[in-house]
Amino acid sequence: MKLFDVYPINPINIVKGHGSLVFDENGQEYLDLYGGHAVISIGHTNPHYVKRIEDQLHQIGFYSNSIEIPLQKQLAEKLGKVSGKEDYQLFLINSGAEANENALKLASFYNGKKKIIAFKKSFHGRTSLAVAATDNPKIVAPVNETDNVIFLPWCDEQALELAFHQHEVSSVIIEGIQGVGGIQVASESFLQKIRTLCDEHNAVFIADSVQCGYGRTGKFFSHDFAGVDADIYTMAKGMGNGFPIGGIIISPKIQPAYGMLGTTFGGNHLACAAALAVLEVIEQENLMQNAAEVGGYLIGELKKFDKVKEVRGRGLMIGIDLPEELANAKKDLLFKHHIFTGEAKPNVIRLLPALNLTKAHADRFLEAFKTVIQ
Ligand SMILES: Cc1ncc(COP(=O)(O)O)c(C=O)c1O
Repeated sequence: MKLFDVYPINPINIVKGHGSLVFDENGQEYLDLYGGHAVISIGHTNPHYVKRIEDQLHQIGFYSNSIEIPLQKQLAEKLGKVSGKEDYQLFLINSGAEANENALKLASFYNGKKKIIAFKKSFHGRTSLAVAATDNPKIVAPVNETDNVIFLPWCDEQALELAFHQHEVSSVIIEGIQGVGGIQVASESFLQKIRTLCDEHNAVFIADSVQCGYGRTGKFFSHDFAGVDADIYTMAKGMGNGFPIGGIIISPKIQPAYGMLGTTFGGNHLACAAALAVLEVIEQENLMQNAAEVGGYLIGELKKFDKVKEVRGRGLMIGIDLPEELANAKKDLLFKHHIFTGEAKPNVIRLLPALNLTKAHADRFLEAFKTVIQ
């Protein structure tokens, strides 16, 4: 049997990892500033993380949501504490798309309405509603097409107001910082406007935090910079440091009912153990502070390069917008300097490293970047 060939891949076989370093089958070391697409939050093979999963595996790996799983309650409590949203309610699933799918559905159950406001260049996942709310027609199959989603220009307050007056809006879904869209930071006033309009129109504010959340920006949710709360936060990527887990946290104003949402694998013992280990490390090692500090340092240094068009982002979610003539920079970083980075179209390098990236590793990147753009 062959693999279904949907990914353009680099000819590199990573077999080992430690912190922000990974190694291929020939023992070649790479600096990982991509984090396997923003997934590696506490570094590869963190010892506490490995032990917590290993210990749990020896106890029990899985049983269904038809029984009590105290680990879920422990996770909810810890997540409430670390995120500061202690009165929210947690529902667990397995991925970012599932998180957004459930959030959009829950919003519609809550207010009985259908229209979703999403934004140009947004990415929310590949399942039916999540992909319909994603601004990329190439990945929307005919069966996913719906007129329930309205795409508005990014951070346009007038367009938002008008849409609320023209439609019965169920929910507004927005990334605090667009990832796939090229590291575009939502303005604080725009997030505040969403809060006000959702309150006035009984609509649900959904903060897609799958990529920009989980401490990456220095705050637990990047939407927190605006000083307003969303009704639902969706999360995945960094939550399990590579173990597949996603979640939504739901404001107390939205009440649950049996059967409203459900999942087979979501919230299983192993996933909860992984997610607990991640939060324990984030808390014990002050990783949000480290993300703010090392990220702030990187952004400051990157802004000094004349050839860079723009540096965008917060903490360790950074976009380096490059001119056309430097289109090969990402490839050169990987193949000449052995540094993994991400990208966004047309020519943005995305840095999404582990939150415990050291200043020494940041400097190693800056040295290589200097050579590459010269
Ligand atoms: C902002 C955002 N939302 C949702 C998703 C979908 O997550 P997943 O690939 O886990 O389904 C992604 C993935 O890149 C994302 O960046």
